[in-house]
Amino acid sequence: MKDLVERLYGARSVLALTGSGMSAESGLPTFRGVGGLWHSHRVEELASPDGFARDPVLVWTWYNERNAAHRRARPNAGHYALATLETAVRDFTLATQNVDSLHLRAGSQNLIELHGNLREARCDRCGERRSLDAYGMPIDAIAHGCGGRMRPDIVWFGEALPREAWKKAEAAAARADVILVIGTSAVVYPAAALATHYTSRAFVAEINPENTAISAGVDCVLRGTAAELLPRIVEALP
Ligand code: OAD
Repeated sequence: MKDLVERLYGARSVLALTGSGMSAESGLPTFRGVGGLWHSHRVEELASPDGFARDPVLVWTWYNERNAAHRRARPNAGHYALATLETAVRDFTLATQNVDSLHLRAGSQNLIELHGNLREARCDRCGERRSLDAYGMPIDAIAHGCGGRMRPDIVWFGEALPREAWKKAEAAAARADVILVIGTSAVVYPAAALATHYTSRAFVAEINPENTAISAGVDCVLRGTAAELLPRIVEALP
């Protein structure tokens, strides 16, 4: 940890990449691993354009449940620590794969939501948007007036990331002195590439209680949870 704190102290530019493990201590399940969402749910039914075309009601029922769980959850000490770290670093970017809005609620400002969010639905034909409240998408309003269907404003498997968001994240990775990789198994691309492919000089630190696809290649591995380690790192900064 001492090494990482020193690097952070001297850093002009920092990128943090987060995944679902970031919100585990807020009570939200991760995707892979024991108890992960993709163990009890079929990803191709729920998180793909084909699955949505086949059964939009099933897909929205699931995302409405997730939306309600996100709103019941609270940001944890790790989310708040990242928001605090942002105020201490001149150029700080937070790229998250999470769609739960917890970074936003914790006060992070320069936030890139790589996989979108569940605050809005958008029409898959005309692109019109509507905001979602705690109840989510009314099932009887899925069919849109233009003949399209309202879908969650998130990125599904097989879909490209939002162009501007990705360009911004790539640039942040390329100029970063330190990259923090927190709570992600780092197997879903292109997001995972931010930690490994866009920088040859950044000090890359992983914060995760488990071994991941990138553990062997990073500069520093801190084995522990986001809510436990991130506040300690931020407190240790001079
Ligand atoms: P995964 O479920 O693949 O990985 C979660 C990671 O979090 C694992 O490496 C865990 O060890 C770690 N973890 C668990 N608890 C933690 C804690 N308290 N603190 C820190 N780390 C912890 O989730 P993601 O990597 O986010 O995409 O998955 C990436 C993408 O795959 C998601 O954005 C989603 C999913 O399918 C889409 O839906 C498009």
